[in-house]
Amino acid sequence: MVRRDKYSFIVKGGSTLRGEILPGGAKNAILPMMAASILSDTSLRLRNVPELEDVNVFGKILQQLGGSVEKEGDMLTLDQTGVNAFDVPYGLATKLRASVLLLGPLLARFGVADIPIPGGCDIGDRPIDQHLKALTAMGARCVKEHGKWHVAAAALNGARIDFDLKTVTGTENVLIAACCARGETVINNAALEPEVVDLARCLKNMGARIEGEGTSTIRVEGVTSLNGTDYTVMPDRIEAATLLLAGALTGGDVKVLHISPEILESLLGKLKESGADVSWDEKGVRVIRGDTIRSVNVSTNPFPGFPTDVQAQFMAYMCLGDSTSTIEENIFENRFRHVAELRRLGADISVSGRVAVVKGVRELSGAPVTATDLRASASLVLAGIVADSETLVKDIEHLDRGYEKLEEKLNSLGASIRRVPEEDECEVIC
Ligand code: EPZ
Repeated sequence: MVRRDKYSFIVKGGSTLRGEILPGGAKNAILPMMAASILSDTSLRLRNVPELEDVNVFGKILQQLGGSVEKEGDMLTLDQTGVNAFDVPYGLATKLRASVLLLGPLLARFGVADIPIPGGCDIGDRPIDQHLKALTAMGARCVKEHGKWHVAAAALNGARIDFDLKTVTGTENVLIAACCARGETVINNAALEPEVVDLARCLKNMGARIEGEGTSTIRVEGVTSLNGTDYTVMPDRIEAATLLLAGALTGGDVKVLHISPEILESLLGKLKESGADVSWDEKGVRVIRGDTIRSVNVSTNPFPGFPTDVQAQFMAYMCLGDSTSTIEENIFENRFRHVAELRRLGADISVSGRVAVVKGVRELSGAPVTATDLRASASLVLAGIVADSETLVKDIEHLDRGYEKLEEKLNSLGASIRRVPEEDECEVIC
């Protein structure tokens, strides 16, 4: 049965990537900013917004709540003054984990929010207990009924929030709600990710009173409402990491522009450890592959640790390592779904619990593989570029959730990737 809305990549192997490339705006900064627009009395304009499926779905949710979302080029104009509902639509919300980010702003504006119970997803269970614990501390009552969380608060009060673990969207949910809560909120054990810092900067441009972003303790003094602003979103560090790894894996020389090394420090350290030459200047970050890829060990951790969103792509890089690498995934419990597909390409990987052991092989060989989640699909594309012959990567819609036209960016560096509708692929690979 051929599914007409599905696409695949045909990746021709044996390419070496060289050149300069500009990443798009950061998906994981744009989504919380879109949620924050619910608290703004006038339009919020975001620049440097790429064409991403997750952004489109989030926009549709806001429109279904009565808001206005318009995209023109890389400018996203958000006016939620017309939002007249707080019951987040089931169908769309269950497609997008980040819809949980609507909880805080809807609660702060309407005193109530209904959000579908987020199901598990490809990479793990991903509960929201920390989000609910924090909002409860601010005066909300959380009740689970009819497959939704019903969260209500007569008034949202500033509070001291102690997160039991580092949660990116948990921190963002509370940060946004606290901007319009009564009094001061102190968030302890806050996430330090650069996307949280970018959200805080955007909120401050909108009139919020925040300090400590980028540290474990963030203080927020509530104000009555926020104003719109014109804000340029930070570049996507995960896309940048993916492009730099594509260059290193293929023995090339890639420079990613507009990226500063601080937001990629842990990856750049591991690339240096693996023998790559890493440099940067005011224009961006450059990685030149060494003579061989030295196998190195990696453990994913909250920022500034090694990002879980780069784990799959780094594993593809380690497939051609000169010995054995252990990769420990400490953030999500099911984020090795790319392993079975990398094995189809000839990789030698064994998994035990949260640890994958990657024995380097001399080369990978092209084969049909299937994408399972956003970052896993990126790792399969990278492996296909360096494999011999051709690789078919199916279900590429996972990739389009978080990368804008990744094949065009990689082809501009020397790759040879074609996007084909699913019904056309068998003429090439089978
Ligand atoms: C954000 O997800 C990102 N998504 C993820 O990127 C990223 O992988 C993740 O942070 C970690 O950096 C967005 O920002 C939209 P968490 P989030 O809450 O916030 C557990 C991508 O590929 N946890 O930081 O959902 C959770 O299960 C995506 O772009 C609880 O137990 O992640 C996980 O094990 C994938 N209870 C850990 O904490 C909670 O209430 C970290 O999750 C919340 C989280």
